[in-house]
Amino acid sequence: MATINDNYLKLKAGYLFPEIARRVNAFVEANPEAQVIRLGIGDVTEPLPAACREAMIKAVEDMGDRDSFKGYGPEQGYAWLREKIAVHDFQSRGCDIDASEIFISDGSKCDCGNILDIFGNDNVIAVTDPVYPVYVDTNVMAGHTGDINDKGEYDGLVYLPVTAENNFIAEIPSQKVDLIYLCFPNNPTGATATKEHLQAWVDYARANGSIIFFDAAYEAFITDPNLPHSIYEIEGAKECAIEFRSFSKNAGFTGTRCALTVVPKNLIGKAKDGSQVEIWKLWNRRQSTKFNGVSYIVQRGAEAVYSEQGQAQIKELVAFYLENATIIRTKLSEAGLDVYGGVNAPYVWVKTPSGLTSWDFFDKLLHACNVVGTPGSGFGAAGEGYFRISAFNSRDNVNEAMTRILSKFK
Ligand code: MLT
Repeated sequence: MATINDNYLKLKAGYLFPEIARRVNAFVEANPEAQVIRLGIGDVTEPLPAACREAMIKAVEDMGDRDSFKGYGPEQGYAWLREKIAVHDFQSRGCDIDASEIFISDGSKCDCGNILDIFGNDNVIAVTDPVYPVYVDTNVMAGHTGDINDKGEYDGLVYLPVTAENNFIAEIPSQKVDLIYLCFPNNPTGATATKEHLQAWVDYARANGSIIFFDAAYEAFITDPNLPHSIYEIEGAKECAIEFRSFSKNAGFTGTRCALTVVPKNLIGKAKDGSQVEIWKLWNRRQSTKFNGVSYIVQRGAEAVYSEQGQAQIKELVAFYLENATIIRTKLSEAGLDVYGGVNAPYVWVKTPSGLTSWDFFDKLLHACNVVGTPGSGFGAAGEGYFRISAFNSRDNVNEAMTRILSKFK
């Protein structure tokens, strides 16, 4: 009989969001009249920007004409998209990133997992706690951890707690770690990092030969001009960081699929024989072998984000969700809850009231208010006692959800 990858048996029963969906579906089945409002998964609700739609319609027409038809594209993405990203997202902020260092993909979630293909199995890996579960689960799948303990932590991972006590900013570890996952603006806490904080991480990584996986999927939500959008705004980061970005949350591409990963050419890793190897070459090799690129049509849609019209439209989209976050913060505070995040981020992180566990609060909100959020404990042991509310929804739904919560909690 064929054997399986036993590491999968170490995983918690289900990935967090399908597990929430399962519980909500059971509730809806038992209460078919309930008007459930979903502020759980961070999935966008507003339509694609017109600039992107128009560009994709034009691209479909290109595919219908022999002269402009496209077959396989470059696995790394079309040069016209990579160049626009390099100039607009990086060079305009003083980051020395070249188009050749940008790899277009179908999602940051996929890339965050796939990147492990090119790293060794003996790295010491650090994650914050709470954390986006993909970072942990993909390491479990790859066999980089031991079993899960009673607290819900996997042996072998270094957990860096982020709670209200440390303002949701992880302390630099005292021990040596090889790979570090950082996400700013943070999913799930909505915390942001200053340049000084990121500089401390970059200094640590350079001193220890570590590599930072920097997830910047929510950078578009930063409105504070003093906060960095990219790790490459930090001196020395090109020598120690890979950055993941996405069109999902700024341009509403969660169902359209387009993202990018930046692998600088001067990033170096060590082979078993001690020789130094360019990480870029390995990722390029990996992508050329296992990936055939994002569709031409979708890449044209992503390119339109950088047009004048596209820029104005995504600004409006982001401002819309940020306004939702402000409403959520304000109303939950009025309800007497302690709220964090949601200022330069689309997630509001709430302390559960009266010592309720995260899942108890989930059930209470679902049953009493028919509102779905995400239990903090689903993001890690230190998320217990917290709850995440996503600002990705229509204004009507956000207002209605807050009215219901206020009526039960005030
Ligand atoms: C979330 O709710 O945390 C998001 O959906 C994460 C993601 O984009 O995968």
